[in-house]
Amino acid sequence: MEDLSRHVDNFLFRTISSVCSDLGLDAYVIGGFVRDLLLHRKSKDIDIVVIGSGLEAAKHVAMKLGKGTEARYYGQFGTAMISHKGWSIEFVGARKESYKLFSRKPEVEDGSLQDDQNRRDFTINALAISLNTYDFGLLLDPFNGLRDLELKIIRTPLDPDITYSDDPLRMMRAVRFATQLGFRIEQSSYEAIVRNRNRIRIVSAERIADELNKIILADVPSVGFKLLFDTGLLHVIFPEMAALQGVESINGKSHKDNFYHTLEVLDNLAGMSDDLWLRWSAILHDIAKPPTKKYDPEAGWTFHGHEFRGARMVPRIFKQLRLPQNDRMKFVQKMVLLHLRPIVLAQEVVTDSAIRRLLFDAGDDIDDLMTLCEADITSKNEYKVKKYRDNFRLVREKLKEIEAKDRIRNWQPPVSGEIIMEVFGLRPGKEVGLIKNAIREAILDGIIGNNFDEAYGLMKKHGLELGLSIVREPEQPPVIKSNGPVPI
Ligand code: CTP
Repeated sequence: MEDLSRHVDNFLFRTISSVCSDLGLDAYVIGGFVRDLLLHRKSKDIDIVVIGSGLEAAKHVAMKLGKGTEARYYGQFGTAMISHKGWSIEFVGARKESYKLFSRKPEVEDGSLQDDQNRRDFTINALAISLNTYDFGLLLDPFNGLRDLELKIIRTPLDPDITYSDDPLRMMRAVRFATQLGFRIEQSSYEAIVRNRNRIRIVSAERIADELNKIILADVPSVGFKLLFDTGLLHVIFPEMAALQGVESINGKSHKDNFYHTLEVLDNLAGMSDDLWLRWSAILHDIAKPPTKKYDPEAGWTFHGHEFRGARMVPRIFKQLRLPQNDRMKFVQKMVLLHLRPIVLAQEVVTDSAIRRLLFDAGDDIDDLMTLCEADITSKNEYKVKKYRDNFRLVREKLKEIEAKDRIRNWQPPVSGEIIMEVFGLRPGKEVGLIKNAIREAILDGIIGNNFDEAYGLMKKHGLELGLSIVREPEQPPVIKSNGPVPI
């Protein structure tokens, strides 16, 4: 029997041990903490299972830990959560549980340690370490979880059909752990996911989104998405993404498989950024390719406007997946909308005005957009890739140069609407908008510089062309604050 006492020989576990011993209760540390300990992964969440009342044990442990300890008790669930020096410790009484086929509400009764281990999701999550004074540190591993950890296998402790139907989210968890840990889902467990995939529908969208986000944040997220696709889970939870898969050929011309392309972009991006929303932008950048796909005998396969249609699809997809409907969603929408712009620039002669327009449209998100676009270069043709990358470097340099000169990022009109109204004696209306647009376009096209004097001059000229007359000129032009140089 494995002795792990050195791993739990510290103040926290010794305190739980002595308190429970005084109360005559057996207690074990179980689940993810034990798994992560054995995998040398850091974890701040500890699950303690008590044979008897988890609440009573928690109350006494919280008292004994003293200062700097916070405890919350959830009487109706028989659980308690203690926070102590950055640790979150959940106490629960050992349970025997079974779920009914069409309900998420389990029938629960008190149970033994073994009962509790039986109802857990995977053998690697059912490992327990004793905190009892008589066998402190002993590993209790009824399902050979330790061997599965060594062999890197995800396996359910019971018949997988039972484990997954008890809580269908576990099918997503299997995929998530396989992705995070680089493990393989054992064959019968995998087949059970395929069989039970439709039961994922009874799980709340919030829980699904949590798992999906964990997959996306893994080092190589494509592993998870391939598993979700191959098991059929993706078709149920995120059909728009599953629809990206497939290659069609007409007259010997075929387009690329947009699902695998998207995964390549996502993996490339994962190597460059940990930002969840930028990773979501990679997932969604080509999401409207299936609905915009057309075959043209001359041009071959086209996906015209997929960036506009894709940006329009984002709010619905975010709502459906219960992702936030806030500025994070707007960021993803903007990335999807603009994702072709730097690529187009990298293919052509880069003009200053195209660069200014890109800076104007992307604003402060320009760096993220450039990262996404660089990740989007996935051609098999090495010559092409090199050419794009070189041009990209040029685009980046140009962006820096133009921004230093013209300050377009975070652009503010150098002549405000108030000044236009004052000079021409106007009320808010169409003319003010026309003059403002003319100034902005002239600056972006490089016809005038991004400064008050040139903008003011253009305003007067354009106003007179519109038939307006100058009624008053400000005595002193307002001082325009510079935005300062920003790195790109
Ligand atoms: N568990 C389970 N079935 C679930 C969720 C959790 O059996 N659907 C059990 C597992 O034993 C798991 C433990 O509860 O190890 C704690 O769950 P949780 O904190 O959600 O996951 P961890 O395994 O700790 O992993 P992570 O912190 O990475 O989510």
